[in-house]
Amino acid sequence: MKIAIIGGGYVGLVSGACFAEFGVDVAVFEADPAKRAMLLEGKIPIYEPGLDKLVADNSAAGRLSFPTTMEIGITGAEAIFIAVGTPTRRGDGHADLSYVFAAVEQVVLALDHPAIIVTKSTVPVGTGRKIAEIAHRLRPDLKIEVASNPEFLREGSAITDFMRPDRVVVGADTDWARDVLQRLYRPLYLIETPIVFAGLETAELIKYAANGFLAMKITFINEMADLCEKVGADVNDVARGIGLDGRIGRKFLHAGPGFGGSCFPKDTLALMRIAEEAGAPSRLIQSVVSVNDQRKIAMVERVVAACGGSVTGKRIAVLGLAFKPETDDMREAPSLPLIGGLLDAGATVVGFDPVAMGVAKAVLPSAMTFAPDVATALTGADALVLVTEWNEFRALAPQRLGELMRGKVVVDLRNVFDPIAMRESGFRYLAIGRAQLPEKD
Ligand SMILES: NC(=O)c1ccc[n+]([C@@H]2O[C@H](COP(=O)([O-])OP(=O)(O)OC[C@H]3O[C@@H](n4cnc5c(N)ncnc54)[C@H](O)[C@@H]3O)[C@@H](O)[C@H]2O)c1
Repeated sequence: MKIAIIGGGYVGLVSGACFAEFGVDVAVFEADPAKRAMLLEGKIPIYEPGLDKLVADNSAAGRLSFPTTMEIGITGAEAIFIAVGTPTRRGDGHADLSYVFAAVEQVVLALDHPAIIVTKSTVPVGTGRKIAEIAHRLRPDLKIEVASNPEFLREGSAITDFMRPDRVVVGADTDWARDVLQRLYRPLYLIETPIVFAGLETAELIKYAANGFLAMKITFINEMADLCEKVGADVNDVARGIGLDGRIGRKFLHAGPGFGGSCFPKDTLALMRIAEEAGAPSRLIQSVVSVNDQRKIAMVERVVAACGGSVTGKRIAVLGLAFKPETDDMREAPSLPLIGGLLDAGATVVGFDPVAMGVAKAVLPSAMTFAPDVATALTGADALVLVTEWNEFRALAPQRLGELMRGKVVVDLRNVFDPIAMRESGFRYLAIGRAQLPEKD
């Protein structure tokens, strides 16, 4: 079986390498010449644990290729997956479908055989029908069908998520499309992965509903964290206490600085617009979007307050810049508004991230500095703000912080440090959703 994937980003590259691992012949076409050149040299343009080996192994086995043109890529492909970006459209919050439609037009004009076009990109309800219209208008001579196969992988654990998903969702209207996707996912079917077959619109909505729900869960525990701080409760225990209830579940109940990343912010915004336009506005999703936006900005005030009401002239070490650990993705990262706000408030900001430094330097203000390692970032700092919970930060002992830092303030936006140990070492320690212990005399 041969398939093509259009777009060699996080989703396209991971899906391509994993399908190749299933034994399928996969061509991943990436339009960006710089990224394509890297892929052809065996380099991976993104950071994703294990991906370099999976790509190398499957390229060596001849199952994974990176064609230089789309025409070469789609030759003989039974299914062509669209895995290009669907960022927020400037101005109105809708998903920008220009990359999707441009890719579809290119594909259908170049096709010389019947094929299924499958959207793996997250696309608003109705997009599959529009793609079918484009295909039939441009190529009335050819049998082209459209299916939806939304992707649920998480950056940082993308390969495991793809290889052992909770479920696979397939939106398809015909036996042909269902059969092609069923054959493709046969290795997952054999390990009893549930495969949810639905109509096109339903599959498209499942993806937004899933992300909307998860974003809501995070936002819920973040609001509970604020309440915990007011009433002297501990959000970690609240999360555990409710999460052990099987109806609720323990995942996505970690209080923090607000969700970021390449999916939740844009997908909640798009879901809000989809629902409004359909005449069924979602007040829950509207609240999630605005509560989360406000929360990210409010983190600046939290740090300023921890520093005694002003950060002017203070050196603040920000540890963790990527939106979450195990990725170099900086899209909508909570570190962005935080660092911008701290600089505006007059602080000197020194940042460090174990893998996202290259990407971070391109998107963070040039007024901040970047440290080559944790120790340099902390040296002489008046305050430490932990933004992303990389494992190497978890191991930082208060004694080590005391040796390196000038000041005694730690703002822990991920609740990774031990409040008692911090207090014992004389730190003013502020976590999320945990009552602040009185400072040591
Ligand atoms: N990143 C995630 O964790 C994740 C998870 C699930 C779903 N998704 C969805 O998958 C889609 C892709 O996301 P991503 O994070 O992989 O984006 P990305 O920006 O990392 O990758 C998209 C790639 O497509 C390429 N591209 C654009 N137009 C092209 C064309 N015409 N031909 C060939 N290549 C082209 C771009 O150069 C880019 O490399 C989005 O809709 C996203 O919402 C992402």
